[in-house]
Amino acid sequence: MTSTAQELHPAPTLEPGRTILELKGLEKRYPGTHALKPVDLAFKAAEIHAIVGENGAGKSTLIKLLTGVMPRTSGEVIWEGKAEALATPHEAMALGINAVHQEVVLCRHLTVAANMFLGEENSRFGLLQQRAMVKEAQKIIDGLGFDLPAHVMLGDLTIGQQQLIAAARATVRGTKFLIFDEPTAYLTRKEADQLFKLIRRLKGEGVTIIYISHRMEEVFELADRVSVLRDGTLVGTRTIAETSEPELVKLMINRSIEQIYHKEHFTPGAPIVETRNLSGKGFENVSVTVHAGEIVGLYGLIGAGRSEFVTTLYGRHRKSAGQIFWQGKEVQVNSEHDAIRLGMALAPESRRDQGL
Ligand SMILES: Nc1ncnc2c1ncn2[C@@H]1O[C@H](COP(=O)(O)OP(=O)(O)OP(=O)(O)O)[C@@H](O)[C@H]1O
Ligand SMILES: [Mg+2]
Repeated sequence: MTSTAQELHPAPTLEPGRTILELKGLEKRYPGTHALKPVDLAFKAAEIHAIVGENGAGKSTLIKLLTGVMPRTSGEVIWEGKAEALATPHEAMALGINAVHQEVVLCRHLTVAANMFLGEENSRFGLLQQRAMVKEAQKIIDGLGFDLPAHVMLGDLTIGQQQLIAAARATVRGTKFLIFDEPTAYLTRKEADQLFKLIRRLKGEGVTIIYISHRMEEVFELADRVSVLRDGTLVGTRTIAETSEPELVKLMINRSIEQIYHKEHFTPGAPIVETRNLSGKGFENVSVTVHAGEIVGLYGLIGAGRSEFVTTLYGRHRKSAGQIFWQGKEVQVNSEHDAIRLGMALAPESRRDQGL
């Protein structure tokens, strides 16, 4: 196998700026939910088009229709001038439409390399060419500037690293149109920078990108244009140069920022949980008191120790120093069982891997 980076993508058939994909009255109803009201929107070749909107606005639904994961209720999708059914993921992929979904949908029990070539291992490499496959995958990963091993099990990587592999995977299958659904949710800043570099490089090669994000700074950093969905309705499309964060937020929620952050007066109850100089793997000397009825935010970058603090408090990891008080009394939380018995519950950061 002697594929090079240049061979990864077919030459785009359209010049940048021309319409590559057009939605005409695209609509989706789930039982009980009108998730996408008829949407008209044209994507230009080689643009980075951000889509923003509140939770439940219909962003992922739109992506599922474009990738053949879900059937549309009505409307048309015109790809390179021709109406396409997009009835199956296979059909979308054959056209060059791929997605990196919000939650990793690859196989954790296969190697990184096997995941990258999933579905085409045999046609590309023959049945027993494991080593050739790993070598090829590693070459692609290195070429993208990702510092990740191809031979390990995908499940041994962090969720963020798995997302990078999902992105790398999309580049090896003749992608002309690539959709990222909240890709940076689990990435460190460094990983996010690697991903942005990949996205810009793909754009440079003529690939059209849809970029879904809640993070305004990413939208302004990356996108050429941005569309806003609200309650399943497309409420506006702007070029990045002509819009601003307050305008986008206003379009997203139909109110101004001042109206959202309306503070209720609140009197907290007695302390429920308190840590004094709690230390553990990844954090040191954290003293926090949380009162009844209170919501306390823990703010910091990925890697700052927030999750480690919380999972130690919850008994999943051993503290190395400090004390934990529960309703005023010092307690030993040596296991999740202890935490649950006290009355704590943990909603973990990755529902798929750490939840039930
Ligand atoms: N399979 C489904 N069956 C029924 N309703 C669904 C289904 N998937 C999504 N919905 C509903 O459709 C609406 C749009 O959901 P969608 O997942 O597209 O939102 P989203 O904009 O991606 O939100 P988020 O930012 O939380 O990812 C929501 O009200 C959601 O509850
Ligand atoms: Mg979504």
